[in-house]
Amino acid sequence: MSSATAPGKVILVGEHAVVYGHPAIAVPVWETVATATITDAPAGHGCVISAPDVNRHVKLAAAGDDEPLALITRLTLAALGAAANPDWQITVHSQIPIASGLGSGAALSTALVRAIYLQLGHQAEPAQISALVYASEQLYHGTPSGIDNTVVAYGLPIWFIKDRAPEIFRAHQPLTLAIADSGIAAPTKETVGDVRRGWQLDPVRYEDWFAQIGAIAQAARQAMAVGDRATLGALFTQNQAILEKLGVSSPNLQRLITAALGAGAYGAKLSGGGRGGNMIALTDPAYANRVTAALLAAGARNVIVTTVGPADPA
Ligand code: PMV
Repeated sequence: MSSATAPGKVILVGEHAVVYGHPAIAVPVWETVATATITDAPAGHGCVISAPDVNRHVKLAAAGDDEPLALITRLTLAALGAAANPDWQITVHSQIPIASGLGSGAALSTALVRAIYLQLGHQAEPAQISALVYASEQLYHGTPSGIDNTVVAYGLPIWFIKDRAPEIFRAHQPLTLAIADSGIAAPTKETVGDVRRGWQLDPVRYEDWFAQIGAIAQAARQAMAVGDRATLGALFTQNQAILEKLGVSSPNLQRLITAALGAGAYGAKLSGGGRGGNMIALTDPAYANRVTAALLAAGARNVIVTTVGPADPA
């Protein structure tokens, strides 16, 4: 039997502009994870992938490449030169809400790739896992930048620029984040597509916004390097203002952001594709409970409090 886990993630700064080559910072969220477990099955069983939480059972031999779990399994088996339809029962679970900006698809795929590597006795390198997961992410996102698969496969904070190797990133001092779920599912493919249409209609204006977001990411990196939480929080809020101009915020997200700021957070913004999904607030640890209560009172479905760096997760 082989079992593997992968974390959720949030983007601290830089979403959407990252699709156009600007830098972004993303961090894993180990408080919410996906797992994959593989057990040997009798000869002739073939490979069956079950997701009991959503009552989905996929026979690998019969599934098309439009089925993400089948596609990632097939790609991984092929990359390892393994038999195309091994006699395996694969079971996946995820605590990560889908279409919420927490990287649920990337986490499920990453856990699955890692479990297959383990089951076949291979060492799983993050760069290889990330490349395999990227192929499946294209189904979820259309034109993904690659940030989700990278942060989830490395399981560490990253400084990310599209088509470049990620830089592993450490905060100078621990950062406390409250992550609130708006409860609204919003497919990233749609918001990325809408931003692309806006950019096509008015490239000069959009490229200026993307460049401003890129500059915010640079400044955020600097603030994290010196442990300046007040500046980092202000940068979150500036980033949010541009995301609003891009048309990817929503009244629900804005309500949550206002509530977090009112409760004393250093800064707050949506995280990920937007329109729904999650928002993040940077808070002093002493205010984490107060910020959490304010977010729940403002309609958050769920709040996760996580700490970013400076040490690696256990
Ligand atoms: O998966 P999400 O919703 O966190 O979005 C990923 C971030 C985007 O920049 C919106 C898209 C991308 O591919 O980078």
